[in-house]
Amino acid sequence: MEQKNLPNLSKARKRLNNRVITSEYKPHKEIKGLGIGKKYLIQTHGCQANEADSEILRAMLEEQGFTLTDTVETADLILINTCAVRESAENKVFGELGRLKSYKKVNPDLILVVAGCMSQEEATVERILTKYRHVDIVLGTHNLHEFINYLYYVMTENKKLVEVYSEEGNIVENLPHARDNRFKAWVNIMYGCDEFCTYCIVPYTRGKERSRQKEYIIEEVEGLIAKGYKEITLLGQNVNSYGLDLEGDKYHFADLLEDLSNLDIPRIRFTTSHPKDFSDELIDVIARKQNVMPYIHLPVQSGSNAILKRMNRKYTKEDYLSLINKIYNRIPDVSLTTDIIVGFPGETESDFQETLDLVKKSRFEGAYTFVYSARKGTPAANYEVTLSKGEAKQRLYELNNLVNEGYAAGNKRFEGQIVKVLVEGMSKTKTDTLSGYTEHNKLVNFKGNESLIGKIIDIKILKAKTWSLDGEVI
Ligand code: 5AD
Ligand code: SF4
Repeated sequence: MEQKNLPNLSKARKRLNNRVITSEYKPHKEIKGLGIGKKYLIQTHGCQANEADSEILRAMLEEQGFTLTDTVETADLILINTCAVRESAENKVFGELGRLKSYKKVNPDLILVVAGCMSQEEATVERILTKYRHVDIVLGTHNLHEFINYLYYVMTENKKLVEVYSEEGNIVENLPHARDNRFKAWVNIMYGCDEFCTYCIVPYTRGKERSRQKEYIIEEVEGLIAKGYKEITLLGQNVNSYGLDLEGDKYHFADLLEDLSNLDIPRIRFTTSHPKDFSDELIDVIARKQNVMPYIHLPVQSGSNAILKRMNRKYTKEDYLSLINKIYNRIPDVSLTTDIIVGFPGETESDFQETLDLVKKSRFEGAYTFVYSARKGTPAANYEVTLSKGEAKQRLYELNNLVNEGYAAGNKRFEGQIVKVLVEGMSKTKTDTLSGYTEHNKLVNFKGNESLIGKIIDIKILKAKTWSLDGEVI
């Protein structure tokens, strides 16, 4: 086993004041055809940042001649793009790696690659090196652009490789993308996170906050428009702090959103926003611009001030409520969703009631809810957990019941209305039915033919269900 660079969480925690260097990706001219006649399978866990990274890794494999397969049995290369945000996500990956061991016995030439956030964790890589020795490449989040070099090395030298950089990371532009969707695209506007919420591993696995220069972002979006894309989602762990690290600190997220909204793209979304940086200018752009969708995902995490403080969220319940009231006043029909963690260390029954109270006051139309999961290396992992797993699950259950009421109400309000839907394809369950999403990000099913796919059309909503809407073409 050749080990080159192992992860180091304490190095990853450091934030140096150096300027981010931007370089441009050059396709590997000297390495050609590594994948001719070979198939790859890719599994993506976790958030949109991972989905976007998987599209880049896929494109690199396809440049080498690999073609996509969805069966393990036919794959010559399997890449697992992992998530480290909760233990359950990690367990899934270890389960999968265990399962793949037997395939490796049948096909010793099978190349197994672990990429993504788990690769950035010391304990995980140690476990792979000792218990999952059939993994061929461990690739970190900061060096995707080097993937083909590593693959070439492993394929020609017949060795294994761990290549993880723990330092800040720079930016590589002009990366190729094999986009999963023909009409909707992810566009990274920044990488990393400097927030250090005490429960979260992301600032360690994704490094320091780095904004892409606006010229590159605009160029990417113009390229997508030329290819017929109808919707872009701007990605960052905290898009609201876009530009704060750029030279001069004068061009911020609201400015970027305004500039992009002046391009000929019908729909712009963005995720994720941190409440502490949500500016009035940003609210104003969303309110004014027809092609900036009236949908905001605004993670609150908890409704208790004591817990928010211990989470290092830098706002209070009152700050959050006053921010969303400001948003509701300026954009009355906006659809808000959120993230909430229950069972954070020290969360008392009354803290939890504060969270329920906040949810009741917030008119959320959806929420991703989680039981707290201790992440090694984060400050909260050293806080004492007083709640049992059963009690935490009970809180999650209670919270979900409340959240689901908001979900249903958020759908109900569209009954009888005419809404715009970007038609994505045939419904997964019914063959004569199309589906797509509204501006407010509601899933709609309706009867229609395939020629509508990729178009934005008017649909009358006939009936709201809990998780989707039924409509008809008008
Ligand atoms: N435990 C549970 N949930 C977490 N999240 C992040 N870290 C943890 C953790 N350690 C949740 C937060 C975040 C979402 C992406 O995942 O709610 O907003
Ligand atoms: Fe994690 Fe907080 Fe950064 Fe979101 S803002 S990625 S929760 S540290």
